[in-house]
Amino acid sequence: MGSTLSFPIVQLPEDRIFLITGGNTGIGYETAKQIATMGGHVIIACRNEVKAKAAVEKMQQEFQGARKDGKLSDITREKLNVQYMIVDLASLKSTMAFIENFIASGNPLHVLICNAGIGFAPRSYTEDGYESMFQVNYLSQFLIMAHLLPVMKRSGDDCRIILVSSIAHKFASFCMSTIQGKEVSNFNRMKYYGNSKMYQIMQMYSMVRRLQGSNITVTALHPGIVDSELSRNFQDRFYYKHIYTVGRLFGVVRNLYQGSATSLTCAVNPELRGTTGVYFVDAKPATSSRESRNTEYQEQLWKYTLDCLKDYLTDDAIMGLKEVTSER
Ligand SMILES: NC(=O)c1ccc[n+]([C@@H]2O[C@H](COP(=O)([O-])OP(=O)(O)OC[C@H]3O[C@@H](n4cnc5c(N)ncnc54)[C@H](OP(=O)(O)O)[C@@H]3O)[C@@H](O)[C@H]2O)c1
Repeated sequence: MGSTLSFPIVQLPEDRIFLITGGNTGIGYETAKQIATMGGHVIIACRNEVKAKAAVEKMQQEFQGARKDGKLSDITREKLNVQYMIVDLASLKSTMAFIENFIASGNPLHVLICNAGIGFAPRSYTEDGYESMFQVNYLSQFLIMAHLLPVMKRSGDDCRIILVSSIAHKFASFCMSTIQGKEVSNFNRMKYYGNSKMYQIMQMYSMVRRLQGSNITVTALHPGIVDSELSRNFQDRFYYKHIYTVGRLFGVVRNLYQGSATSLTCAVNPELRGTTGVYFVDAKPATSSRESRNTEYQEQLWKYTLDCLKDYLTDDAIMGLKEVTSER
């Protein structure tokens, strides 16, 4: 599965800005490093400053190492253009502070990769009162998107929003009355993880309807089963580590390089200019679940999301959404 998966290597303009949530480790780290190696200006948005700083240093070291070994002998730049910013997606206050810092920087934004995520978390609630996977994987990144849409609209052609979802969305079910999991007696962490990943895909379809004719495309993807830190919440770590070992032997678990290929394809492939509303698996278009494609559910989720965020959607953000919204 995907052992030969690759991504196009392109020369990116140095003023093309890529914002990647959760770029300090896992798929996001590799995605950030590869984009920066191609010449793009990368900003990783991370919750932990120590980890973020270490990740940027590690990227630079790996880049220098590859140049020294002659693997990147055709690249003349001395250093990667990578920086970090701080955001804790489990907090809407922190997410707003991040958004304000980004807007204050005056930077344009060409590609937003909503990559950060937590997997299989036990039932827990954020300081804002939302189920953790709902908020970290979906809600807070929706808030970032909502506020940065006006920036992207001013940033020129071929702007892209990429939502790193999961095949786990196929195990999800849409139910507004149990969306926060407070009411269910038996909280199934796999299902709620899948739900959060389905909301990202539903967000893609809702956004595409609202962004018709704009300079911004939206795609979603499943990166494959990837050997990252996502499994840190597994109840029985040894058991799952064992599964990963067996998975690696059978080639069903991807390393980070291959695991970032679908994100990278969506982010940099020039042939995907204008491609929108597509869910990718193995760097190719695929079909998302029937439930995720239900327009009525998508609109219910959209309204609920705006309601959750009502205290954080400033006039500017609401204007940005209205400009692209044919209000229902
Ligand atoms: N690995 C897989 O097999 C797989 C399969 C399907 C989909 N995915 C999706 O791929 C994406 C990347 O996951 P991964 O596999 O690379 O996992 P990972 O190694 O655990 O990386 C997740 C990233 O998200 C960040 N993050 C978590 N909570 C955050 C918060 N509250 N605020 C800001 N950042 C936060 C983490 O930061 P810290 O290091 O500080 O925790 C880390 O940088 C996720 O959206 C995941 O759902 C992964």
